[in-house]
Amino acid sequence: SSSESVQYHGLLLPPVAHTLESLEYAQHFSVEDTDVFGVTYPKSGTVWMQEILPLVLNGGDLTPIQTIPNWDRVPWLEETRLAKVVDRLKSPRALVSHFPYYLMPQSLHTSKAKVIYIMRNPKDVMVSSYYFHRMAGFLEDPGTFDEFMEKFLEGKVLFGKWTDHVKGWRLAKLGDRILYITYEEMVKDLPEALRHISDFLGRNLSEETIQKIAEHCSFKSMKANQMSNFSLVPKKYMDSEKSNFFRKGVVGDWKNHFNTEQLARFTSVIRKELEGESFSLPWS
Ligand code: PPS
Repeated sequence: SSSESVQYHGLLLPPVAHTLESLEYAQHFSVEDTDVFGVTYPKSGTVWMQEILPLVLNGGDLTPIQTIPNWDRVPWLEETRLAKVVDRLKSPRALVSHFPYYLMPQSLHTSKAKVIYIMRNPKDVMVSSYYFHRMAGFLEDPGTFDEFMEKFLEGKVLFGKWTDHVKGWRLAKLGDRILYITYEEMVKDLPEALRHISDFLGRNLSEETIQKIAEHCSFKSMKANQMSNFSLVPKKYMDSEKSNFFRKGVVGDWKNHFNTEQLARFTSVIRKELEGESFSLPWS
């Protein structure tokens, strides 16, 4: 159920939304000082940011999340849609990206734009990705869980190795223009995460607005939002009968999938690849 992936700078990308042209466009994208990027390794909270950012940036105005599909509201930097909707984006613009740090547009570095990098426990990332490969008609069947784990650890999956992505972004030289948060923090206390995000973006939101945004960004609300739940996408691309994009939205589902051997292997590979790094991560 797949067509050939697009290859770009050693990365595999799904052909449904990426072309060499869109990737070049992204790399030469002209970043504005007021731009905000939500950056993630896939399955770490991207679509969540597409809901959160417009609400935080516009003081809780629900219009964008209720009237614009997520992919046009907060487009992916690297996808073909961006060039089509870029003129419609209102300042301050919000974008998402799965790009590794080294592929970000040059103009990011000379701008004052801000980045929020969201990380998630790689074991839960892998589980989420496994189910996504089953339901997405534009992706290769993941095979068995064991087979998919090997591909994941070798980086033979979309956007490459999780450890490379995280390393690149954790060592990014963006000073106070980057905020690191985790999916787990957001699940644990969304209002608190929203306060961090809103402070980082220089928004002074009332507690009432924070609570309102949290309500609209809950898993349940988003799963019911037609502008965010991918129900507008034809079934051949995303088959929600096989697995819903809004699958579980929980922390620790990996415990229902990894056996003892898989856990040992996964942990040792990830640990080895992050050995000696100057940052630490909340997952063992
Ligand atoms: S993608 O394809 O890379 O854009 O996917 P991404 O949006 O990064 O990740 C999808 C996972 O995020 C979960 N999700 C949420 N969890 C909790 N609360 C909210 N509001 C929320 N929105 C999305 C989604 O369910 C996927 O995780 P799993 O574990 O598969 O449920």
